[in-house]
Amino acid sequence: MEPNKPRIAVIFATAQGSTREIAQYIGDDLANRGAQVEVADVEHAPELSRFDAVVLGSAVHNMDYLPAAGEFVRHHHDALADRDVWMFSVGVSAALRGPIGRRIAQRVPERIAALRDSIGARDFHAFAGHYERTGVSLRARLRHRLLGGGRFGDLRDWAAIAAWTRTIAEALRLPQPQTSVIHP
Ligand SMILES: Cc1cc2nc3c(=O)[nH]c(=O)nc-3n(C[C@H](O)[C@H](O)[C@H](O)COP(=O)(O)O)c2cc1C
Repeated sequence: MEPNKPRIAVIFATAQGSTREIAQYIGDDLANRGAQVEVADVEHAPELSRFDAVVLGSAVHNMDYLPAAGEFVRHHHDALADRDVWMFSVGVSAALRGPIGRRIAQRVPERIAALRDSIGARDFHAFAGHYERTGVSLRARLRHRLLGGGRFGDLRDWAAIAAWTRTIAEALRLPQPQTSVIHP
């Protein structure tokens, strides 16, 4: 690894792939600004002692990080607590709209907040992910709609992801990129 360039590990847990694409985009964007970046899923995470900072993201299932991501935080607690860590989640509630939906969207699920606080993460952001109609019961779909989630499909907001990545780059004093990274 080259000296003086921040070394960043972008680590993710995904069930259906949308979190992987977000993690890859964040990694590409930070690398495009001159950081030394490795992107890996939690099962194949690199040794954290080689990195200055960590970006950790997981899909949300049942108002929690995926079990492998929670396990990763508990297992690497000390190394994470010693580093600058940015955390994100990918779920459908971040896409909720309307007065009730927006309030729900802003609430960080308790178990995710506990993980965040256990390592003193610098920041946490909830991104909208995929919401597929197939396999979701009529009851669940109605509940979703009532809470302000009228849309289905790929709900990812790449402008929001790019803006959050920029805050990481600024905190690590990375230079402005010459070109921008294209999202999937
Ligand atoms: C079994 C299951 C449970 C889910 N539970 C939640 C939840 O509690 N909150 C939420 O916001 N999204 C929830 N979601 C939505 C997913 O997190 C969302 O679709 C996300 O894009 C999945 O990311 P992935 O493609 O990386 O797996 C759930 C999805 C599934 C399949």
